[in-house]
Amino acid sequence: MAARLKVGVLISGRGSNLQALLDACADPAFPAEIALVLSNVAGCYGLERAERAGVPTHVISHRDYASREDFDAAMDKVLRGAGIEFVCLAGFMRLLSAGFVESWRNRMINIHPSLLPSFKGLHTHERAIEAGVRFHGCTVHFVTPDLDDGPIIAQAAVPVLPTDDPDALAARVLESEHRLYPLALRLVAENKARVSGSRVVLTEDTPSASVSVLNPAD
Ligand code: GAR
Repeated sequence: MAARLKVGVLISGRGSNLQALLDACADPAFPAEIALVLSNVAGCYGLERAERAGVPTHVISHRDYASREDFDAAMDKVLRGAGIEFVCLAGFMRLLSAGFVESWRNRMINIHPSLLPSFKGLHTHERAIEAGVRFHGCTVHFVTPDLDDGPIIAQAAVPVLPTDDPDALAARVLESEHRLYPLALRLVAENKARVSGSRVVLTEDTPSASVSVLNPAD
């Protein structure tokens, strides 16, 4: 069997997407393994999840660094020291410096709770309801220096119901995030989804259904 891609996951909070990735990687046939979980927030719940799964953790607080560049350099050193080949952002709530993004170009992906390019930034569920969209969802994309931008690997759509408040909609989207992130990581780890300019192209043998998830309403 080919060597598994060594992944570092960056988190800031509860880590439910990290859990979805840990669960996927628990299968020895999955093409990636999580070799390090790095958080900028000491004591966050995601760190507990990693420890429970027997994955090494590391905390680097952004508060200990004078600049974003210094903080990112510290993260970079830890990631490279651990032999990390690929980075997954999973609820990592810090902006990354252009230098860090460049040094992990095409080797770093993010999950965002909207159907990009709609609703970049924060409070996506409130804004989706306010905008009156009928579908909302989540996106896994390669990271570029622009916020919530970059070649799209996979998306999941969920309906927005008339009765939804932001929490109900967030819960529906989150469920789809947990399905989508492992699927997207598998595609890149198997080299089936490659960046070409501003888009991701799939290998010919990759069914387009594998990059989209449709979640029914509850
Ligand atoms: C997720 O909904 C993720 O999409 C979002 O933060 C949440 C983290 O939850 N990320 C962003 O908004 C990044 N722009 P989790 O810690 O339970 O995975």
